[in-house]
Amino acid sequence: MTTTLETNHTPPPTTGTALAVSDLTKIYGEGRTAVTAVDGATFGVEGNEFVGLLGPSGSGKTTLLSMVGGLLTPTEGTIHIGGTDLTTLSKREQTRFRANNIGFVFQSFNLVPFLTARENLTVMASISDAPRKQIEARADQLLEELGLGERRNNLPEQLSGGERQRVAIGRALVTDPALILVDEPTASLDTELGTAVVKLLAREVKKRGKAGIMVTHDLRMVEFTDRTLRIVDGALSQE
Ligand SMILES: Nc1ncnc2c1ncn2[C@@H]1O[C@H](COP(=O)(O)OP(=O)(O)OP(=O)(O)O)[C@@H](O)[C@H]1O
Ligand SMILES: [Mg+2]
Repeated sequence: MTTTLETNHTPPPTTGTALAVSDLTKIYGEGRTAVTAVDGATFGVEGNEFVGLLGPSGSGKTTLLSMVGGLLTPTEGTIHIGGTDLTTLSKREQTRFRANNIGFVFQSFNLVPFLTARENLTVMASISDAPRKQIEARADQLLEELGLGERRNNLPEQLSGGERQRVAIGRALVTDPALILVDEPTASLDTELGTAVVKLLAREVKKRGKAGIMVTHDLRMVEFTDRTLRIVDGALSQE
């Protein structure tokens, strides 16, 4: 994707930060039906920082996260992750980069239906460069921490919504990625479990020096983040 730099009036990204996003824009469709879902977002996240992303439904949160995670091609702008400009990589390179550096928890979980809970975590060994033994050990540890020890051999259809959500979180953490992106990790969880999961994410960020972004509608979860970004109609603001 080519980017237009003439419109770059915001400060250049600091490529040393864990994540540096500059003038990121996504326009879906064209002409009269075009929707500007994200409009020139510029921000950075440091390693060790857990950032909340808040905004009304349809404001562009998932679109922003998907671009940062290399799953959606921006219309304009740049994304530097640990110094690598994601937007300059080929699709193939992006896939590999993502497998090694980014943990993504989707709003819809995206579990593989014919793999057990444990296999949904260990499958990451075949797409990342991490050794299988290491992934397996980490998978077992995470399944325990997420309260899924007893459910490890269940298929997704044999799990509750909240259990599936926790499997998705485990899968995002199992390769120990430098950047964690989570889209509404507590939507299917009660307050107690939701709080436990968000605390686990915050602890992962702090303990392992990761950069984390968490989309949430739940203001109670904001207390576990270091700061918040807000997005309204595609326009991002920091507080
Ligand atoms: N593939 C698409 N094609 C066209 N428009 C889209 C597409 N995906 C999202 N949109 C539109 O872009 C805008 C932002 O959507 P997005 O999914 O990023 O919002 P969101 O903040 O994640 O909302 P929610 O809180 O409901 O998940 C919305 O107006 C949505 O209708
Ligand atoms: Mg969304």
